[in-house]
Amino acid sequence: MSLLQVDGLEMHFPVRGGVLNRVVSHVHAVNGVSFEVRRGETLGVVGESGCGKSTLGKCLVRLHEPTGGSFRYDGVEYAHSNHGELMDYRSRVQMIFQDPYSSLNPRLTIRDCLREVILFHGTNYVERKGVREPIGADELILELVEKVGLRADAVDKYPHEFSGGQRQRIGIARALACKPEFLIADEPVSALDVSIQAQVLNLLMDLKDEFGLTLIFISHDLKVIEHFCDRVLVMYLGNVVEEIPCEELHASAQHPYTRALLGANPINHPSEKRELTVLEGDVPSPFDLPKGCAFAGRCPIAEPRCRESRPPLERKSSGHRAACFLVG
Ligand SMILES: Nc1ncnc2c1ncn2[C@@H]1O[C@H](COP(=O)(O)OP(=O)(O)OP(=O)(O)O)[C@@H](O)[C@H]1O
Ligand SMILES: [Mg+2]
Repeated sequence: MSLLQVDGLEMHFPVRGGVLNRVVSHVHAVNGVSFEVRRGETLGVVGESGCGKSTLGKCLVRLHEPTGGSFRYDGVEYAHSNHGELMDYRSRVQMIFQDPYSSLNPRLTIRDCLREVILFHGTNYVERKGVREPIGADELILELVEKVGLRADAVDKYPHEFSGGQRQRIGIARALACKPEFLIADEPVSALDVSIQAQVLNLLMDLKDEFGLTLIFISHDLKVIEHFCDRVLVMYLGNVVEEIPCEELHASAQHPYTRALLGANPINHPSEKRELTVLEGDVPSPFDLPKGCAFAGRCPIAEPRCRESRPPLERKSSGHRAACFLVG
């Protein structure tokens, strides 16, 4: 059964202008996205910069209230719930942010930052054989810091005293402090040095196993997603254009955009064959979406009808959907 069910989710940001500061247009950041995530699964979300990945994540943790559509978590609808109704949801579903430099409060030591979260969510307990026993917040803070691979003396330091990789570990500890079931990791390593990226990714996957987490993993790098995820949603300009199990990606991906992303990955070994598809043309403006397929302007196989109407996301096989008139 699915833990998270997303139906036609939309986030259109108003753009204001003129002397009267009226709404003059909208940015169509997320444009009717539907998918589900099963308990324990890792779902990847891939797509170019600006395609709406972070906005999707922020809607799902309700940092934004979606302007359309809905989502249910564990059977309960949260897309338009108010602050009070979201209390419990917000400790169960946590997000790790793209930028480890701006996502921590610079005025709080790590201890204070984590204590604030623990006391707010009331997570200062340990669960043994299904029974909750209270523990001190300080004890839990030390445990969390150790879990994410930092030294105990890190707790009395401020965020600026840490490197990017260490800050991202603190961001992970902060998310874990809520004892979440579901994590949305928004490009957790893209701001880090390549040498540090693998360490943080491995940490995330170890924690996922240890705590039995369900994960949405956002990245613009299909290689990383393929390595860590069970299934991937490929997004283009606010839409899902393909959804496919990662193990079928190379053999069965159909959408020309997914194929282009696969072709754009660096080669692992010179003997590995790769299709060379170079994406030409510009991404259309999210202010003024084309009537037909959003990818048509850059698609190597587009026909006139692709510019006339938008292809629906159709089921191809179990777990595989693609939105293209011309494939499959
Ligand atoms: N608060 C906001 N107000 C107005 N427009 C926004 C807001 N947040 C995002 N957008 C716009 O929505 C679109 C999607 O942005 P988003 O940050 O979700 O993309 P992304 O896929 O996460 O990109 P990146 O890979 O660069 O992180 C962009 O055109 C962006 O400018
Ligand atoms: Mg983003």
